[in-house]
Amino acid sequence: MKTAKRFFSLEGIDGSGKSTHIEKLANALEAEGYSVVRLREPGGAKISERIREILLDASFKGVMADKTELLLYNAARAQVIAEIIQPALDAGKIVIADRFAWSTFAYQGYARGLGADMVQRLTELTCDGCFPELTVVLDLTVEQSRARTAKRGGAPDRLEQEKADFFERVRQGYLAAAREFPDCVAAIDVDRPFEEVSAELIKLVKSRL
Ligand code: TMP
Repeated sequence: MKTAKRFFSLEGIDGSGKSTHIEKLANALEAEGYSVVRLREPGGAKISERIREILLDASFKGVMADKTELLLYNAARAQVIAEIIQPALDAGKIVIADRFAWSTFAYQGYARGLGADMVQRLTELTCDGCFPELTVVLDLTVEQSRARTAKRGGAPDRLEQEKADFFERVRQGYLAAAREFPDCVAAIDVDRPFEEVSAELIKLVKSRL
């Protein structure tokens, strides 16, 4: 897969601390004078956020076909690339995405069982070279994830309603990506003090700048 300089993404199952780590990382880079665009996936642009609502709608549990899910994640991605990510990279900015195509690999390819080949073909069509040069997987066990997210309020969305074995497959998908593509995927253990994880993440990203 062709990758784009200065494009980074964070991955992990729920409760890995992605959003807090992204904020800390982005602030550290901005403090050094870089211009940083942060976004979440699915989302980050108006059309992509609308697609997100459909994807996460709990009333579609058991209704949405796996291929529909796969295509909608890619549709949301195509839009945020065209509208936000590519223009930001062209302007020399750093882009940090909370999830990107490795989520599709882990959730739809691995956990739903659609397979890596189908996901890869579609990713090439959707991303067309606009793919993160480095993705950091914040790794934790499903039990740790459950313990961390149990403290959150609110009704679970369609994906959050999946069972533990689904998330175990997601995790294994991420770990397989880190093993198979070490140049662009790094997994770090987050069952450690926050500051220690944050420092490792910042160091990893800075090593690519
Ligand atoms: P989140 O932004 O709150 O993590 O919600 C996004 C959900 O969508 C999360 O459960 C992971 C899932 N997801 C996929 O299944 N495939 C994808 O390609 C992406 C980006 C997210």
